[in-house]
Amino acid sequence: MIPARGAALYKGKAKSVFATDDPSLVILRFSDEATAFNGVKQAVFQDKGRINCAITAHLFDELAARGVPSHMVRQLGERDLLCHKVEIIPVEVVVRNVIAGSLARRYGLTEGEPLDEPLVELFLKSDELNDPLLTEEVAVRFDFAKRWELQCMREQALQVNDLLRAFWGELGIDLIDFKLEFGRLDGKVVLADEITPDGSRLWERGTGQRFDKDVFRRDLGDLSQTYRALHARVFGETQA
Ligand SMILES: Nc1ncnc2c1ncn2[C@@H]1O[C@H](COP(=O)(O)OP(=O)(O)OP(=O)(O)O)[C@@H](O)[C@H]1O
Ligand SMILES: [Mg+2]
Repeated sequence: MIPARGAALYKGKAKSVFATDDPSLVILRFSDEATAFNGVKQAVFQDKGRINCAITAHLFDELAARGVPSHMVRQLGERDLLCHKVEIIPVEVVVRNVIAGSLARRYGLTEGEPLDEPLVELFLKSDELNDPLLTEEVAVRFDFAKRWELQCMREQALQVNDLLRAFWGELGIDLIDFKLEFGRLDGKVVLADEITPDGSRLWERGTGQRFDKDVFRRDLGDLSQTYRALHARVFGETQA
């Protein structure tokens, strides 16, 4: 049975959350809107929503098949995911394999340098405060998350990193870094939100060509074309 879409609960920068006739389920709708630098830069890119929805659904399926469940129940329409409603933990988890972006800027490091071991960083999910970096001590002290939750998030994030590195690697793409969100569901911590090229850095092996939102952030080309090319890599040319 297809749950009926109810009222909009939240409109974010790239997605909206809708209630359904089942209070434990929500619909996540992916829009074509893109923002960068916490909303300072904005634009609309044709096909972005449906491509991000398709990629998220595919990656959550792949992860679930390999023992990492998520909030996703299933994909409904081209840009809609049916998900368990969770209480989002206000701590974003970033996993990095190669130095890039804010890590390079913050510490004056060279973008493109590989890290010996994956690096996990925590950020407070707060647009008003510009998502500041968190230590585990601060996160626990101010109750943004419990210590056991952070441990759980870190463990899952590293597992997801291993699986996604292999996934993208088979497509000739290096997973440089990515952001995850987690939610509370029935006393457990579960992977939530999305996994898309909006929140990941994906560099083509050999050429270094960007297949992610840096194309928009840094004006490197057409984001719609970039995402269509990535979609074709994942699903085959015919569906691009
Ligand atoms: N299963 C879920 N249940 C409830 N909320 C969810 C679920 N999955 C994701 N969300 C939340 O839905 C919102 C999706 O919208 P979007 O990602 O566009 O927001 P955003 O503008 O990036 O703002 P935010 O900083 O809150 O992520 C996010 O706030 C995300 O945390
Ligand atoms: Mg978001």
